[in-house]
Amino acid sequence: MSGNPFRVVTFNPTFDRSTFNCGTQALDDYFKNQLSQDIRRRITACFIALSNDRRVAGFYTLASSSVFLGDLPENLKKKLPRYPSVPVVRMGRLAVDQAFKGQGLGGALLADALSRVLHSEIAAYALVVDAKDNTSADFYRHHGFMTTTRDDLTLFLPMTTAQVLADK
Ligand SMILES: CC(C)(COP(=O)(O)OP(=O)(O)OC[C@H]1O[C@@H](n2cnc3c(N)ncnc32)[C@H](O)[C@@H]1OP(=O)(O)O)[C@@H](O)C(=O)NCCC(=O)NCCS
Repeated sequence: MSGNPFRVVTFNPTFDRSTFNCGTQALDDYFKNQLSQDIRRRITACFIALSNDRRVAGFYTLASSSVFLGDLPENLKKKLPRYPSVPVVRMGRLAVDQAFKGQGLGGALLADALSRVLHSEIAAYALVVDAKDNTSADFYRHHGFMTTTRDDLTLFLPMTTAQVLADK
């Protein structure tokens, strides 16, 4: 994102979301109509990328979640305690406005989310994402995410891997 400055801030309902357009109607509608209520109810947290002129360029949401041990690949499962599930943080939504796509912002928002989870005092085994389709899943695979055995659109990155990447 060098030379293309954005800052990531905690969601504030005063930001103008009315023109946000990521190209996926369901994500735009959620962002404009449902998100504030979910935040008030503590169902999710949201972080916003603001451009230099304070336009909303992108956003992502984070919430506590869990995955069943049985949904993880065998080689990782056997290294974990035999609890029914492990704690994770779920990035339910990630979107970049079409005007800002292809400038590294999506990758930067993903890195920001991983950093928040890494620096949290509350443990999480992985960041889990719900891709809306195969193209989105490819974006996450490009960044090292693996598919769960549950389905191809639920992907995860163990935080131990994120830590190694952050230390590089
Ligand atoms: C997916 C999305 C967030 C990507 O945002 P973006 O800002 O355009 O992506 P970036 O410019 O940060 O791309 C970062 C890297 O991912 C790669 N990439 C982007 N989209 C990709 C895709 N669909 N498949 C594979 N790689 C992809 C880029 O080539 C780039 O690679 P590089 O770092 O090696 O150069 C954006 O296209 C979007 O908002 N899409 C609509 C909503 C959506 O699909 N959300 C995702 C999950 S629901």
